Amino acid sequence: MKYMSAEPFRIKVVEPIKKTTKEERLGWLREANYNAFKLRAENVYVDCLTDSGTSAMSTNQWAAMMTGDESYAGCKSFYNLEESVRDVFGMEMVQPTHQGRAADYIMASIYCEPGKYAVGNMHFDTFRGNAEVMGAYPVDYVIKEGLDTSSGEHPFKGNIDIDKFQKLIDEKGADQICVVIITVTCNNNGGQPVSMANIKAVSELAKKHKIPVVIDSARLAENAYFIKTREEGYEDKSIKEITREMFSYCETATMSSKKDGLVNIGGLFVTRNEDIFLKANQLAIVHEGFITYGGMSGRDMEALAVGLQEVCDVQYLEYRVNQVKYLGDRLKEQGVPIVEPTGGHGVYVDGRRFFPHIPQHEFPSQRLVCALYEEAGVRAVELGACAFGSKDPETGDPIWPALETMRISVSRRVYTNNHLDVIAEALGDIYKNRDSYKGMKLVYEGPIVSLRHFTAGFELL
Ligand code: F0G
Repeated sequence: MKYMSAEPFRIKVVEPIKKTTKEERLGWLREANYNAFKLRAENVYVDCLTDSGTSAMSTNQWAAMMTGDESYAGCKSFYNLEESVRDVFGMEMVQPTHQGRAADYIMASIYCEPGKYAVGNMHFDTFRGNAEVMGAYPVDYVIKEGLDTSSGEHPFKGNIDIDKFQKLIDEKGADQICVVIITVTCNNNGGQPVSMANIKAVSELAKKHKIPVVIDSARLAENAYFIKTREEGYEDKSIKEITREMFSYCETATMSSKKDGLVNIGGLFVTRNEDIFLKANQLAIVHEGFITYGGMSGRDMEALAVGLQEVCDVQYLEYRVNQVKYLGDRLKEQGVPIVEPTGGHGVYVDGRRFFPHIPQHEFPSQRLVCALYEEAGVRAVELGACAFGSKDPETGDPIWPALETMRISVSRRVYTNNHLDVIAEALGDIYKNRDSYKGMKLVYEGPIVSLRHFTAGFELL
């Protein structure tokens, strides 16, 4: 029933956004060297660059913020957050951080060892970067279906390929693998979920070989909702029963709370291992702040404590996941090639299938990002040749990634389906005229290739 997935909230405060002309947008795009990261946000009509830190907070979150305790040590807001985290994660030891990548840094510092492998489904960039700095080799072992954008059959395209993991153990030895990280949902291939069966199987194999398991849980509730609706045996379980079971299979979890925390800033490092916790506390003191705030203000911890509870509301999740699917369905109706099934936090358009005449080295998905902004003032993000491309360390030859997509991230509780219709209509029009678009040339990339998408400059061909 359609009304079941309509918004379980009403709008109390509105934030005006600006409609602009195509001429204005073409000028701003040129000034930004055709890189959407360099556009001024006020010149964007619907901002789908990311779902991170962009959520709308509820009346209860804003009310909780007023009660924030800003004491340096032992503030009440920390204990409120700790209680909420324990309830959702089922783990006792909670170290706040200022955002997800700080938790990644602490986690990589503790678990990564030089010359050893860090296995994952698809590591998020900030962990990958931290792991590489520590001298470890991050490897992506998502199942092969996870890299096939044309098939929508598999319900859990974020799963780890157990056979590949086993093969690495057999070939290199378990002592050469320092950690396994399961990212839920898997951001890099479409916000695709990981099944409970897979989390359990990965954890059992890792445990057998004494390899620690970490869950990168930025989108933990969306993953739990997919388990509830797609995996046998979970339909009658509550979201929290599912999240607690997910985390029962790991030693430590990191979280960017800017996603499923329903807040604008914050992160978490949560563990059940006391030695690990003590190390995390010390790293937090040096890099983040004292143990009971770790880079967050008291009011931000209050908002997160409430947000973590709200995100586990099944009515909210039903609305959320169905809103993303709504956009996917509108695009599919017009033949736009997307990653299927739609994931938790956005719709990913396949750049290669959208612009088959633009080769990957001419950045088809980046061209699509620019076309969408030109057409409708909508900002999406490239996750393809620019963001995931790399270079052979010896020859300097470019290495092109397996996936070539444009991610249209949907912020939580922010846009209406009318906004999503604007996106669908604009992309439909671009798709009709797809033959008239040419590729792009990368003219500037900045000093660190793996971070070039933030600073790159392009020219139109
Ligand atoms: N882990 C995952 C799975 C993420 O998606 C992100 C951020 C992080 C860690 C890092 O967290 O931003 O709080 O420091 N993803 C954002 C995105 C930036 O757009 O997907 P952070």
